[in-house]
Amino acid sequence: MNVIKAWKPSNWKLKRADQQPNYKDPEKLANCMKQIRSFPPLVFVGEIEALKKQLGQAAVGEKFILQAGDCAESFQDCKQKTIESKIKTLLQMSLILSRETHQPVIKIGRIAGQYGKPRSEEFEYVNGVKLPVYRGDNVNSFTPDPKLREADPQRLVSGYQHSALSLNYIRALSKGGFADLSQTKPWELENLSSATREKLAHVLKTFGDSLSYMNAFDFPHSRQPQVDIYTSHEGLILPYEEALTKQLPSGKYYNLGAHMLWLGVRTNSLDGAHLEYLKGIENPIGIKVGPHCKAENLAQIVRILNPKREQGKIVLITRFGQSNVKRLLPKFVKAIRLADAPVCWSCDPMHGNTYKTDSGIKTREFKSIVSELTETLNCHKSMGGHLSGVHFELTGENVSECLGGSNGPNMEDLSKHYKSLCDPRLNYNQSLELAFTLSAMLENQSPSQLLSASTSLQISPLRSSMRRSSPS
Ligand code: PEP
Ligand code: CO
Repeated sequence: MNVIKAWKPSNWKLKRADQQPNYKDPEKLANCMKQIRSFPPLVFVGEIEALKKQLGQAAVGEKFILQAGDCAESFQDCKQKTIESKIKTLLQMSLILSRETHQPVIKIGRIAGQYGKPRSEEFEYVNGVKLPVYRGDNVNSFTPDPKLREADPQRLVSGYQHSALSLNYIRALSKGGFADLSQTKPWELENLSSATREKLAHVLKTFGDSLSYMNAFDFPHSRQPQVDIYTSHEGLILPYEEALTKQLPSGKYYNLGAHMLWLGVRTNSLDGAHLEYLKGIENPIGIKVGPHCKAENLAQIVRILNPKREQGKIVLITRFGQSNVKRLLPKFVKAIRLADAPVCWSCDPMHGNTYKTDSGIKTREFKSIVSELTETLNCHKSMGGHLSGVHFELTGENVSECLGGSNGPNMEDLSKHYKSLCDPRLNYNQSLELAFTLSAMLENQSPSQLLSASTSLQISPLRSSMRRSSPS
């Protein structure tokens, strides 16, 4: 007789788990997980469901997703200034995008938990010494010391604590007036080119004027302007994710360590532990889709993660590399349509465009990032669909990690302010410049064009209800 056993958060242990730290002391790991299980959740179920609902609206073109933050957060950067500048960047980018698209932007940080990294190699050589690679602050230290590179489960406890510290301040900023455009003083605009600063000042003034106008009519009753900022990280280190998974009285399981998790390209095997874990939780799930993924497999992953075809549950984040989009994206779009799966299509124009310079520095070029976004937008449009969001690696600081944009840095500047512990991030000016560039592209992603394209392709209209008016 076939007995269907109920899913449990620990079921992943029955499958092959890729990219897991090699913990030498299982008892210490068990004690650390016990401690994390006893801590209060970081997020509330109502917030997760609110995000899912909004993602459902993004899927039909009523909202736009901006998911962004560090490649790898570090414990050391859990500081007032760093958090403020990241949140400021996220908020300003979302204002720039909303202004052109007239759509609310869903703001999701790669923040308050992005402490674990999948790696392509297990070891690296530093000054001739073979060391286990750095796998994120949740696992080991970036310092190239054999002892500190060992996986230490106590770091997961520290990861939870740093997530809590970050999230506490993010909540204070988002609810306490940091987003109040009528007093923009907390928003320092240093490290911007004069062109970006001027354009940003114009956007801020437009929103500020609208607010003053609304306030003059006592609407919305002088409430402190508040925004919602959601958290996300790669669902990678499974003992940690399991420890933060709670069953609610409804019987449903939620990961209460972040609002959204994503499945990376190195851990997406159909019979793997990551899929087994992620299929049991109610949170929205991002799925990175890279050039090595097969379209049939993606459709199956989506079916496994969203068997009830819930709106807003799945965000497909394509990251093919600018030169591969035209060749690869249509196959995936067709496979997902054939499976009749409701998804949001997002674009990560960062990870497929990374390369090492002659001196061995990992970087990405601003123009390749723009090019992948352009190719992706055009491809969705030509197939009668649309892009629902973007996924960026960036920081609010003045780093020199990605090349180009109108204000640099150039190749000679690259090593001057290179702080990322993993992949290169856009700096503050590059981030805003990208938001302006993208907003101009999105303006052309007009609903009327989308509808006529989908009709001519005999595909049912994807945007059933559209809030913004269509430009002629
Ligand atoms: C990442 O987002 O930092 C990452 C490792 O992504 P991917 O799985 O797409 O390579
Ligand atoms: Co990365």
